Amino acid sequence: MFPTERFKGLQTPFYYYDTALLAETLDVIRRELDDHMHMHYAVKANANPVILRQIAEAGLGADCVSGGEISAALEAGFAPERIVYAGVGKSDWEIRLGLENGIFCFNVESIPELEVINQLASELGRTASVCLRINPNVGAHTHANIQTGLSENKFGIDMQDMEGVIRRCGELAHVKFIGLHFHIGSQIMEMDDFKALSLRINELQDRLEAAGITGIENINVGGGLGIDYKEPDEHPVPDFKTYIDTYRRNLKLRPGQQLHFECGRAVVGQMGSLIARVLYVKENAIKRFCILDAGMTDLIRPALYDAYHKVQNISNECNNNILVYDIVGPVCESSDVFVKNYGMPETKRGDLVALRSAGAYGEIMASHYNCRPLPQAYFDK
Ligand code: LLP
Repeated sequence: MFPTERFKGLQTPFYYYDTALLAETLDVIRRELDDHMHMHYAVKANANPVILRQIAEAGLGADCVSGGEISAALEAGFAPERIVYAGVGKSDWEIRLGLENGIFCFNVESIPELEVINQLASELGRTASVCLRINPNVGAHTHANIQTGLSENKFGIDMQDMEGVIRRCGELAHVKFIGLHFHIGSQIMEMDDFKALSLRINELQDRLEAAGITGIENINVGGGLGIDYKEPDEHPVPDFKTYIDTYRRNLKLRPGQQLHFECGRAVVGQMGSLIARVLYVKENAIKRFCILDAGMTDLIRPALYDAYHKVQNISNECNNNILVYDIVGPVCESSDVFVKNYGMPETKRGDLVALRSAGAYGEIMASHYNCRPLPQAYFDK
């Protein structure tokens, strides 16, 4: 499945993207969404311009978390009226950028932020549409570093403060309250977590109605749908049907209410692999190390979240002499390890390996640490 012949002259490590798989994934998403549902691709997962353009052309919106992402999304052709902008710390220039470009909404995380947006909108003679990001205190079965929906996390407005903040919106002339926003975390495989979020939103909507707050136009449930890191070839396209059905079944939308999603990983995760070359194989009394020319600077997820990426020797797949390796990078950090005690066909210097499922939070999180160059990107066409 990898064009290893084509890879021969290329400087490793590099990202290789399967845009045909992205096209298939985008088709599934479009098929699954009802008319009142909107998918905003979470740009933070991968902002490679070629990928952004393909997603924009498919008609998705964009979920941005910085001024830089808003610029990248606009540049790639996303319609401003389909851009949502979240983030617990928005700078004044970023808010102005959103206002000047007429983005769909600001997902607001605090009263001080709301007041600054109102002030800046008034200076520009505009009105900012805002959704309030509510912290639903719903846990998710995922790594602690990528949970966001608990009260201990920095994100969002506490549920108990929700009515007060909505009322505050009404007092500010340059903000318009248009909905509620939530996001409980990332790489979530248990649909019950999304069900729990739905039930919490139902509760909150009932509470608001009882308090006389009605006519909320938008509910944004964030992203978080996980992908199969263990067996990417068995599940190249995530199960958007079951994911969306979970909301269809459990979330009680009010008449006319629009439902928004912000998936990142599930859109681009499986389309990307990090391709690296084996530099050395070295053994000591207890270990056999496979040392790659790619490291945590190219793909930080294993070091940062203990994440698993399947490693495939793509030069030597037919060899059935399976040996056990610790697969590591060249960076001067003990945590620069991709995977330990990993069984793989016997591997030698010069072989190419693919670190699979690296399309999301891979290239975009690469760094220059150790003065290493950033990995290049190549595409299937
Ligand atoms: N919406 C909001 C408000 C978010 O904070 C995030 C992700 C998303 C949507 C998209 O989530 P997704 O559908 O991709 O799960 N770097 C970490 C993931 C960090 C996610 C941050 N927020 C990783 O490599 O696992």
